[in-house]
Amino acid sequence: MARPFRAVEPGARVTLLPLFIAYALILTGALALAGHRSSAPPPAAPPPAAARGAPPARVLIVGATGGTGRLLVAQALERGCAVTALVRDPSRLPIHHPRLTVVKGNVLDAASVQAAMRGQDAVLSALGHRRYLYPTRILSDGTRNILRAMETHGVRRFVCETSLGIGDSAGRLGLPFTLFVIPAVLPFYFRDKARQERIIAASAVEWVIVRPGVLTNGARRGQRRHGLRVGGFILPVRIARADVAEFMLDQLTSDTYLRAAPGVCW
Ligand SMILES: NC(=O)c1ccc[n+]([C@@H]2O[C@H](COP(=O)([O-])OP(=O)(O)OC[C@H]3O[C@@H](n4cnc5c(N)ncnc54)[C@H](OP(=O)(O)O)[C@@H]3O)[C@@H](O)[C@H]2O)c1
Repeated sequence: MARPFRAVEPGARVTLLPLFIAYALILTGALALAGHRSSAPPPAAPPPAAARGAPPARVLIVGATGGTGRLLVAQALERGCAVTALVRDPSRLPIHHPRLTVVKGNVLDAASVQAAMRGQDAVLSALGHRRYLYPTRILSDGTRNILRAMETHGVRRFVCETSLGIGDSAGRLGLPFTLFVIPAVLPFYFRDKARQERIIAASAVEWVIVRPGVLTNGARRGQRRHGLRVGGFILPVRIARADVAEFMLDQLTSDTYLRAAPGVCW
């Protein structure tokens, strides 16, 4: 009688598991080195609440059709900003408002980014994609185009969403992500996020990198933990996109995390 087919022999499984864990830990170390690392010591006390100055009059939002991006558009309009949304497909942005201008473009097309940047006071990016399974430079190349356009047009403040798990937050998305999700599904994506952070940190603009935990579509709680040491090495930490959007908008009027990369989670 024919033996039943086994994809992996039990003995091989015993050998492969430590190899995979070693690969996961090496990747975590590589992400720690490749992303932004703060040279300043973390603040001893929790940072003060965001100073509530007037928000910038005109903001450009990149990734505006995405989960976080749509909430950034809605909340920026609530705060009284005139919003320009740079989108690939305007039909994917179901928001209509007299202060909203939708510009069709692509972050990889430098000319369209330059055109959208004209007249802006600040930029928010919630850029992301789903091309996980092969190497891409969408986040890093797109962000480089944003920064060049900001420098050309004298736009100063840039708030960009990346993720816990990069740079000095490596491992802080929780053990399942460190040992399985990032190494198995997201290694190329996270390498590009690390490049993206380095490009931002090397720029001359006033930047804030916002690193959320695992994103949910839940309701805004209005309360969150944020700082240079938030996140968990064991259990995954979560936060609603609505709370991330609120925190990102706060960074337009606060210098608490200027040129820093705070994590944010519930
Ligand atoms: N999912 C999580 O648990 C998690 C955790 C931590 C951090 N993050 C990060 O947080 C960020 C936002 O995530 P999200 O899930 O809220 O966003 P998302 O739904 O993935 O949206 C991504 C946005 O980027 C846009 N985009 C992609 N390529 C573009 C291009 N070439 N030109 C212009 N726009 C482009 C998309 O436009 P289209 O609509 O045209 O595709 C979309 O608007 C991502 O960087 C993500 O990796 C996610």
